[in-house]
Amino acid sequence: MIGIIGAMSIETEAIIRELQKAEECTVSGVRFVKGNWSGTEVVVATSGVGKVFAALCAEAMILKYQPECIINSGVAGALDPALHLLNVVIGEDVVQHDMDTSPLGDPRGLLSGIDQVSLPADQRLNAAFEKAAAGLEIPALRGRVASGDQFIASDEKRNDVRNTFGAACCEMEGAAIGHVCYVNEVPFAVLRAISDGAAGDAKMDYPAFAAKAAEQSIKILKKAMEELR
Ligand code: ADE
Repeated sequence: MIGIIGAMSIETEAIIRELQKAEECTVSGVRFVKGNWSGTEVVVATSGVGKVFAALCAEAMILKYQPECIINSGVAGALDPALHLLNVVIGEDVVQHDMDTSPLGDPRGLLSGIDQVSLPADQRLNAAFEKAAAGLEIPALRGRVASGDQFIASDEKRNDVRNTFGAACCEMEGAAIGHVCYVNEVPFAVLRAISDGAAGDAKMDYPAFAAKAAEQSIKILKKAMEELR
């Protein structure tokens, strides 16, 4: 069974609507719906926004369903200037840009205990996303996903995360899901479509493009399921 997590209902409901033989269960306040999607057994959850909700959702999913892997699908702000609205980022690895013990001499983003800044995503899942995006003629870029408990909407913050971590996009959950998966030895991947440029105009672009971007990510995910089943 493949686990799929989106933070918001615009990132999951279109999948949940298409599930065959759907069965629901609520754990720790998170609704999990399992069923068959395009010939693949999946469990889908809407975690809520931010790293804590994402982490508790991933942990509950692993304990209850033992998924073979977890995919985080949704929207993101662009950091790489090559990205345009509705383009897609296939996460090569994930970092937590707001994890910061640098006053103690550590590099920014260092995950204490794990002793790494970035955690790698699963290459088989990423290859399936890349093939699906190419088939759908949706521009997709492989790159680093930076997560933090902040909606980024200024040049200053955007440039800081881009320059410090070399990330392609920013969002608020992927690296928390990656962290939980890493600890539990569950392969993970992050697929994100661009809803805004994470700068001053993000306040306007995000409400205008988030739903369309979420759909774009789901479209690729659905096609990738053909490779993964
Ligand atoms: N998700 C989509 N756009 C984002 C942004 N600008 N910052 C954080 N998360 C996002």
